[in-house]
Amino acid sequence: MPGNKAKQKAKQLHKLRQESISFFREIYREEEKILVFGEGNPDAPLVLVGEAPGQQEVVQQRPFVGQAGQNLNEFLEILGIKREDIYITNAVKFRPTRLDPASGRLSNRPPNREEIELCRGLLYKELIIIRPLVVASLGNIPLKVLADDNRISIGKVHGTPMDIAVGEEGIRMILFPLYHPASIIYRPQLKEVYLEDVGKLRRYLEEKGIL
Ligand code: URA
Repeated sequence: MPGNKAKQKAKQLHKLRQESISFFREIYREEEKILVFGEGNPDAPLVLVGEAPGQQEVVQQRPFVGQAGQNLNEFLEILGIKREDIYITNAVKFRPTRLDPASGRLSNRPPNREEIELCRGLLYKELIIIRPLVVASLGNIPLKVLADDNRISIGKVHGTPMDIAVGEEGIRMILFPLYHPASIIYRPQLKEVYLEDVGKLRRYLEEKGIL
């Protein structure tokens, strides 16, 4: 049963979603963007932040339910964590697409600077409502947004926790950078490093009394 604090946070998140829907409708008047919000425990001590939803995520309007989601579930199993106990969201809340002129089909592309900046405030507000102790970034884009540093790179800082201050309020949390779970699909040689980092995160969460 969710406690009072969780209920209050769920209400605040709901209000934030409604406001964001109006905000993005106003910005993207010509094309409707389907927003995929975060889901999970609104009072979670651990939040995971991915890059942006893909096709499956838009169909189901839930983060990490496609192929990358399967990899993510595997990693959560290693950590001994249930999805519903944490909160999972993305740095960008809609699917960035490009049209392939040959097939006429839409495919995923990385979010551009403008899309990242448009969604930055929403991610910060989400985190300030939840106030987790630890936020794990999945891949380069959420890492750069959360560290508020465009030059930082996952290849250099993966598996190394750092202190961050989120939003204008400067709410302190620990950022734990991980590779994106989909990166293993494209670069299988990363799997070992990835598992090592997940092991470090596990020990870190145990030390903090989260696990
Ligand atoms: N990749 C992400 O970064 N987020 C999702 O929700 C799905 C795939």
